[in-house]
Amino acid sequence: MIQKNLKINYEVWSERLTKIYGKGKEALEAVSKIDLRVKPGVHGFLGPNGAGKTTTYNMLVGAISISEGKAKIRGKKAGSVAAKQVIGFLPQDPVFYEDMTGEDYLIYMGQLGGLKSKEAKRKAQELLDYFDLFDARNREISKYSSGMKQKIGIAAALIHDPKVLILDEPTANLDPLGRADVIKKIRDLSDKVSVFVSSHILSEIEQMCEDVTMINHGKIVISDSIKNIKKSYVSNLYILDTDMNEKFLEMLKNIDFISKVRIEEIDGKIHIIPKDQDKLRELIPQMLIKNKATLYSFHQPELSLQDIFMEIMAKKEDIKK
Ligand SMILES: Nc1ncnc2c1ncn2[C@@H]1O[C@H](COP(=O)(O)OP(=O)(O)OP(=O)(O)O)[C@@H](O)[C@H]1O
Ligand SMILES: [Mg+2]
Repeated sequence: MIQKNLKINYEVWSERLTKIYGKGKEALEAVSKIDLRVKPGVHGFLGPNGAGKTTTYNMLVGAISISEGKAKIRGKKAGSVAAKQVIGFLPQDPVFYEDMTGEDYLIYMGQLGGLKSKEAKRKAQELLDYFDLFDARNREISKYSSGMKQKIGIAAALIHDPKVLILDEPTANLDPLGRADVIKKIRDLSDKVSVFVSSHILSEIEQMCEDVTMINHGKIVISDSIKNIKKSYVSNLYILDTDMNEKFLEMLKNIDFISKVRIEEIDGKIHIIPKDQDKLRELIPQMLIKNKATLYSFHQPELSLQDIFMEIMAKKEDIKK
């Protein structure tokens, strides 16, 4: 009973969700037994090209069949009419009716989503306004820029007031300003709707999301809040800056518990990777006193999400070998 309630509390939930494309020798397990737990808010979905993100999304929205396992959207079976009603979906490569105007397209999508024409028009205008497309509402979509198309795509996904918005790379092909704009819109939307969004760009995910799931080769590599991930991956890099960096570098080169030490060209400071962090923290103050050196700084830099995922991916690839 408790288990059942748990499923309902998640915006997106899956158990051993699997997609196998093809049969026999040709069979490819594109998504392999993944357990998704997406809570309200903005949840990032990360992974390199071919990791299985689009395949997962397509199963969640009912665009392709599920090979094995199960998935629920707010407690409703993925692919069911009830689940489709609560989902808004922006595909990776949305297909528009390019000769329609932005406004007509939204009204049409609203009617498809079950709205009466008057309500569809009201909602379309509200969304055009929200996405700064009101002035372009009577222009054909074929004449929209990439950024405008991306925004009209998100607007179309929102027209029937979904509870869960699934966005497959909403910032792809956008310039930095366009990206920043779409990211802000997604952030603001999260007051009203839960968002499950994929992107290749970790700094974007860091700006938008509280939680992230990363997949690689169809399997979940890590799934947690960004806060927790950052807490558990502390850098083993130390940066030291004194008034005698060259001299310290020579001395540190001869210490057996230091695996790497060099002066970084960009900042002119000593970058140290120790095998034993405690010993390094003891050694540096002693060296400073003994050499009567002035200390400018000695610290461990905080890792970005990008650094952390590079590290996780490198480790996983090692294990595979
Ligand atoms: N219709 C299909 N038939 C056969 N294989 C497919 C099909 N669609 C995707 N694949 C394969 O499934 C794997 C996962 O692809 P998918 O598109 O889900 O990855 P992705 O994480 O979305 O990648 P990207 O970041 O490039 O969008 C890839 O190996 C891909 O070649
Ligand atoms: Mg994809």
